Amino acid sequence: MPAPQRVVITGRVPNEAVVMLSAAGHEVESWDSEILVTREELLTRVAGADAILSLLTEKVDAELLDAAGPQLRVVSNVAVGYNNIDVPACRTRGIIATNTPGVLTDATADIAMALILMSTRRLAEGERVIRDQQPWQWGMFYMLGTSIQGRQLGIVGMGQIGAALARRARAFGMTIAYSNRSAIAPELAAELGCVRMEMDDLLATSDVVSLHCPYSPATHHLIGAAQLATMRSDSFLINTARGPVVDEAALADALATGEIAGAGLDVFENEPTIHPGLLTLDNAVLIPHLGSATVETRTAMATLAATNTLAVLRGEPAPTPIPA
Ligand code: DGY
Repeated sequence: MPAPQRVVITGRVPNEAVVMLSAAGHEVESWDSEILVTREELLTRVAGADAILSLLTEKVDAELLDAAGPQLRVVSNVAVGYNNIDVPACRTRGIIATNTPGVLTDATADIAMALILMSTRRLAEGERVIRDQQPWQWGMFYMLGTSIQGRQLGIVGMGQIGAALARRARAFGMTIAYSNRSAIAPELAAELGCVRMEMDDLLATSDVVSLHCPYSPATHHLIGAAQLATMRSDSFLINTARGPVVDEAALADALATGEIAGAGLDVFENEPTIHPGLLTLDNAVLIPHLGSATVETRTAMATLAATNTLAVLRGEPAPTPIPA
């Protein structure tokens, strides 16, 4: 059996992953609290690690990699998004960085679909009426929403999650347009019955715009004041990707002035802080980054990260390395 390696897990993960790593004979340092580790403590904890299992709440940058030391071989992020990882800094040190694509596709697409329905049908607003014990009465014109049948869903970033949302939205009778750096495979386009559009055309013509692109400097504030002005006043914006893809202050203004009709947000620019302008708006549905939050999905994410770690520590290729 190869010498045990030191695996540091930066936050609390499902026990299945810890068991997998320990069963392989490694010395596993887990984190059992829901309270996030402080940066200072993390820098100390990672010293001497051969592998780091990181959560999206921890920044894995050059400072952290250097604090771990030159023996560090793999950083396995327990998330598909990897904007918390300085991938070039990993590469220059010969460290393999991995993420967890695939296993959270359906859970995240479900949440995006839920946000579309919540926003267009005013579900959170309606629930607040009941919980606040406000007077209400069924009426022909009471709390009317917008039907989505026959309406266009514009998907920004047509990867696995975008495609999974498209399938769901088609079942609800929506038509699909997408904007992406490159065209998707013709078979997939035929299956989804979707058309590719330039971003501005997609924004101007869609009833609902849903964001599914990764966050990087290139997508920072991809949706800002100008893009919101391009959207129709009866349209909705959904974000289950990453908060900083949207200029949250500009969005709060657009929602307050009626420049767009509503928004459904699972992610925020400075989580867990929310722009105060959004908190008072009835046309903003706000949920706390729940895209992948099912027992099954979180277990699959953690065990895939453990599988990646174990492969690299055995000297084998990681099943899901972060793409070059
Ligand atoms: C991810 O994996 O990037 C998700 O945001 C986690 O919920």
